[in-house]
Amino acid sequence: MGWSFPDPEACHAWGKGLGETLTIPAVIFLEGDLGVGKTTLAQGVLRGFGVPGRVKSPTYTLIESYATAHGPALHLDLYRLSDGEELEFLGIRDYLDEAALWLIEWPERGVGFLPEPDLRLRLSIASPGHHRLEVLLATARAASWLPFPPAGEEHDG
Ligand SMILES: Nc1ncnc2c1ncn2[C@@H]1O[C@H](COP(=O)(O)OP(=O)(O)O)[C@@H](O)[C@H]1O
Ligand SMILES: [Mg+2]
Repeated sequence: MGWSFPDPEACHAWGKGLGETLTIPAVIFLEGDLGVGKTTLAQGVLRGFGVPGRVKSPTYTLIESYATAHGPALHLDLYRLSDGEELEFLGIRDYLDEAALWLIEWPERGVGFLPEPDLRLRLSIASPGHHRLEVLLATARAASWLPFPPAGEEHDG
């Protein structure tokens, strides 16, 4: 399934819609190269899930956690992760046993140490300012979370 974002606001709004409809436990992988909009999308999801105020990018901290009225939310950016085992030191184990929202940028760097995804959101740049989202469902329950119908000409499933 594909969506198309003509500007960053559309990307953020799509994420916000997802954050409003999803139910925890929810594990979302955000895939794609630097600058494709993973953090923009994650910020929208967190806003929709009820995180107030400014959402920082976990570029240097690798993980940011939030307590919301809907439960805990975790935002990880594993770009700078040197070794999967480093995740243990970040304390992710504490969260693995409870229902939480997980948003994970660069999940391929933490293979073997992360929970299984419900949704994989793969972003790319179609042309300057125009980004694309391809959604890969990993679990059936995630299908009911998707906020907007796919963009007509890009709907392929
Ligand atoms: N259509 C679009 N969708 C999402 N982001 C866009 C779009 N057009 C431009 N941008 C810009 O691209 C950048 C994406 O950055 P970011 O979300 O941090 O990406 P990543 O986390 O994947 O490295 C932001 O500066 C955003 O404003
Ligand atoms: Mg990012």
